[in-house]
Amino acid sequence: MSTKEVIDLRSDTVTLPTEEMLEAIRHAELGDDVFGEDPTVNRLEEMAADKMGKEAALLVTSGTQANLVSLMSNTRRGELVILEAEAHMYWYEVGGISAIAGLLPWPVRSQHGALDPKDVETAIRPKNIHFPEPTLICIENTHNRHGGAIITPKQIRAISDVAKAHGLRLYMDGARVFNAAVALKVDVQEFTRHVDNLMFCLSKGLSCPVGSVVVGTREFIDKARKIRKVLGGGMRQAGIIAAPGIIALEKMIDRLEEDHRNAKRLAEGLAKIEGISVNLDVVQTNMVLFDVSGLGVADELFLSKLKENGVLALTNAKNKVRLVTHRGIEKEHIEKAIAVVESATKALRSQC
Ligand SMILES: Cc1ncc(COP(=O)(O)O)c(C=O)c1O
Repeated sequence: MSTKEVIDLRSDTVTLPTEEMLEAIRHAELGDDVFGEDPTVNRLEEMAADKMGKEAALLVTSGTQANLVSLMSNTRRGELVILEAEAHMYWYEVGGISAIAGLLPWPVRSQHGALDPKDVETAIRPKNIHFPEPTLICIENTHNRHGGAIITPKQIRAISDVAKAHGLRLYMDGARVFNAAVALKVDVQEFTRHVDNLMFCLSKGLSCPVGSVVVGTREFIDKARKIRKVLGGGMRQAGIIAAPGIIALEKMIDRLEEDHRNAKRLAEGLAKIEGISVNLDVVQTNMVLFDVSGLGVADELFLSKLKENGVLALTNAKNKVRLVTHRGIEKEHIEKAIAVVESATKALRSQC
C-alpha cells in the first residue's frame, strides 16, 4: 500500500470489476434482450432464480430501479406499503414510491432494522372507508441505515406469518442479502423462502459495475418486465452487464466473509479511540457505524480531517459516521484507517 493510496470506505458500491469480469464482458455472447434474445442475460436470470429458489428473475439497472419495479409489480396505485422507518426505499430513492408508484409508505420504527411483527400487525388497520388498502410489507436485508444489520430467517418468518394472515405480500430489498447469508453461514434460500419476491444487487459487495436482479414467481416477473420497460429500463445487448453478474454469483459471494472480518477489526479498533462510540453488537456484516458526538465538532470537519489523510467516509445522520468494507480493502488498510481516525480525533480534541 503506497502512502498516497486513498482508502475509500464510503460504500461497497465503489468496488471495481475484477479482471475476470472485464474479460467476460469482452467475450459475452449478446443479443437483443428486449426481444428476450440475449443468451448471457437469460443465463444470469436463470441462475439468479435458481439460487434464490424462485421461478424467475429479471436483470435491472440498479437497486433503486429494482425496488421501484418491484413496488409497482406488487401493488396498485393508491395502496399502502408498510416498511421500516429507516428503509433505503423511504430515505434515498427520491420518493419514487409516491412520486412514480403512487403508493402511501407507512413507516414503522424498529430497534435494529427488524420490524416487530406486533407493530406490523398494528399498522394493518381494519378495513375502513377512510383508509388506503394495505397490500405490501417491505423488509431490508441487510439493513443499510441500521449499519448492515441482519434480519434473521426467524424474524422474516414471523413477519411473513403476519403478512399471510392478512393477505399482504412480503417483499425483501435484499441489496446485500448475500452478506446476511455469508455472515450467518446459511444458504441464501433460508432468507428468500419466507418472502414472495425480492431483489439483490450485483454492484455492491459482489463487485459488478452495474445491475441488480428482481426475483419472484413467473407471473410477477412477467409483470416486472413490462414495468421495467415503461420506466425506460428495457436494455438491448445487456449481456455486457449480465456477464460479470454470472461471475459474481459463481465466485464473489464467499469472499464477503473477508469484508465482515475487516469490519469487525475496524470496529474493535475504533471502539478504543477516545471521543468515539461504537456498538460492537450491531457490527454484523460489512458496515461500521460510529458516533462522534463526543468530539464536539461538526461532522464535515471530522470527515475532511479523514480525507486530508486519505480516508473517505460518509455520515448517515448527525454525528453518525459510516464506514463500509469491500473488495480492495485489505487488513493493512484497516490498520491505517484506524490510525487516521485516531490522529484526527486527537487533533480535533486539542482544538476544542
Ligand atoms: C439497501 C439498499 N437498497 C437499495 C439500494 C439502491 O441501490 P442503487 O444505488 O443501485 O440504486 C441501496 C444502495 O446503497 C441499498 O443500500
